[in-house]
Amino acid sequence: MASYGRASAVALHGLSGVMVQAEAVVTAGLSRFSLIGLPDTGLSESRDRVRAAVLNSSIPWPQTSLTVSLAPASIRKQGSGFDLAIAIAVLRADGKVRPAGLSETVFIAELGLDGSLRPVRGVLPSVLAAARAGYASVCVAEDNLVEAEQVTGVECLGVRTLRQAVAHANGEPIPDEPSQVVPSLLKSASAPPSVVAVGDPASSHGPDMSDVLGQFEARLALEVSATGGHHLFLCGAPGSGKTMLAERLPGLLPPLDERAALEVTAVHSLAGTLHPAKPLVTEPPFCAVHHSATVPALVGGGSAVIRPGAVSRAHRGVLFLDEAPEFGRVALDALREPIESREVIIARNCGVATFPADFLLVAAANPCPCGLAMSAHGACTCSPRSRSAYLGRISGPLLDRIDLRVDVSPVGPAELLSAAAGGLASESTAQVAERVRQARDRAARRLRETPWRLNAQVPARFLRSRWPLGSDSLEGAEQALECGVLTARGLDRVLRVAWTLADLAGRDRPGRTEIDTALSFRLSTTFYTGALA
Ligand SMILES: Nc1ncnc2c1ncn2[C@@H]1O[C@H](COP(=O)(O)OP(=O)(O)OP(=O)(O)O)[C@@H](O)[C@H]1O
Ligand SMILES: [Mg+2]
Ligand SMILES: [Zn+2]
Repeated sequence: MASYGRASAVALHGLSGVMVQAEAVVTAGLSRFSLIGLPDTGLSESRDRVRAAVLNSSIPWPQTSLTVSLAPASIRKQGSGFDLAIAIAVLRADGKVRPAGLSETVFIAELGLDGSLRPVRGVLPSVLAAARAGYASVCVAEDNLVEAEQVTGVECLGVRTLRQAVAHANGEPIPDEPSQVVPSLLKSASAPPSVVAVGDPASSHGPDMSDVLGQFEARLALEVSATGGHHLFLCGAPGSGKTMLAERLPGLLPPLDERAALEVTAVHSLAGTLHPAKPLVTEPPFCAVHHSATVPALVGGGSAVIRPGAVSRAHRGVLFLDEAPEFGRVALDALREPIESREVIIARNCGVATFPADFLLVAAANPCPCGLAMSAHGACTCSPRSRSAYLGRISGPLLDRIDLRVDVSPVGPAELLSAAAGGLASESTAQVAERVRQARDRAARRLRETPWRLNAQVPARFLRSRWPLGSDSLEGAEQALECGVLTARGLDRVLRVAWTLADLAGRDRPGRTEIDTALSFRLSTTFYTGALA
């Protein structure tokens, strides 16, 4: 006589979750336990964990032939989050847990050998998938509860042990365990799945623009970048403030709306970079990568489980490449796809995953290998050749996509002293961000019947034909073209930046001032004199 038990779990492919059923069949025969359904190595280890966890929860293990299948078999399954569903299915088949009712629970947790429940990555996208599939409740490890609770419209239960999960599945009171249990019933189960904002967004701002003294041009570049979605290149001597500036860019971007917050949180949940105290990311993230980062660390990858990389952790925020010329050619090339398509598709033996990667790029570089090329004292010892070769490393794949280039010179003693004496204060992040917001609205209104929202996304061809500019405003650009310091491609970028400047100035279209300012961002001195014009 065979008996059957079933429990639901979620398989994640990138950020999309697919419902999976753990189905257990107990038949008479020799005691054995087989697990099928395309499991990866992690899943075969799950067999041993499930058995030990059940026994260590003082629940007898079936002394018969036991087969567990994760269905549908055609779906790739990764990770350890199926343990709990497998255990519940086995115990149902063995009559230790009552069969699932109509409002079935989804079980998402790893089991410890001692019968404890362990948190897993990617709980937020998993719970979201369960809610969307119409499940009424999910059971997760206590440490994953706050993250799970970000999804409304589904009841979330966080437990510490398998015994507690079994009690829940049986509809019995949940037994006490060494530490306190936090069962939490959330919102009405009829509401559509969405996100609850937590925390006070105003209190979570990062470093402020008011800390930056002087740097008029670089500050304007940050504002333009945040408004039009233009990637930014900062070139300057060590200590000139490049990192300081880059870190302040996320604060100028609009806060994440509900959908974006969910998306960003899901990425960080999978990457394992969610802050425990802040389970929902509501502010644009900042992700800095070092040039020693591997390609998988940069764009995502992994052998057993595909994890998002830095480009996805920077999704809806800022990706900062410090010392950009030091990055290897392969790494720089790998950035091309996400910059073009605003997502990455990663194919490995264990499957294919797509992650969002819509970020603002800030690349920083010293002007030359010794770093002193732009210093006032002319202390640079590099040859002109090694200087242009140094910046030339980022020219092809990256620089082409960057609309804004700024030379950052260290602030002079006068500015520093005037600030120390309580002189003219720099504008705050809140002040600049308000202008950015208004300018973005203006651009969105103009672009409302196009597929684009930000000026950096609009093809220049479209800009030129849809909103042609007067020839008088283009005089400076014409001269630059004629003397060969500006290419046709460069002109396209100048136009886009000029539109953003017009949006910031509240003008209907760019005039000569906006074009010339945009031109100066294109032809900053390093490039003008160097090999990259
Ligand atoms: N404009 C500025 N206003 C106020 N402080 C500044 C400014 N520029 C630089 N500083 C001070 O100098 C420090 C160094 O700046 P930062 O680390 O951003 O330079 P960097 O260009 O990134 O240098 P490196 O090339 O060495 O990475 C800052 O932490 C800050 O204290
Ligand atoms: Mg730095
Ligand atoms: Zn030098």
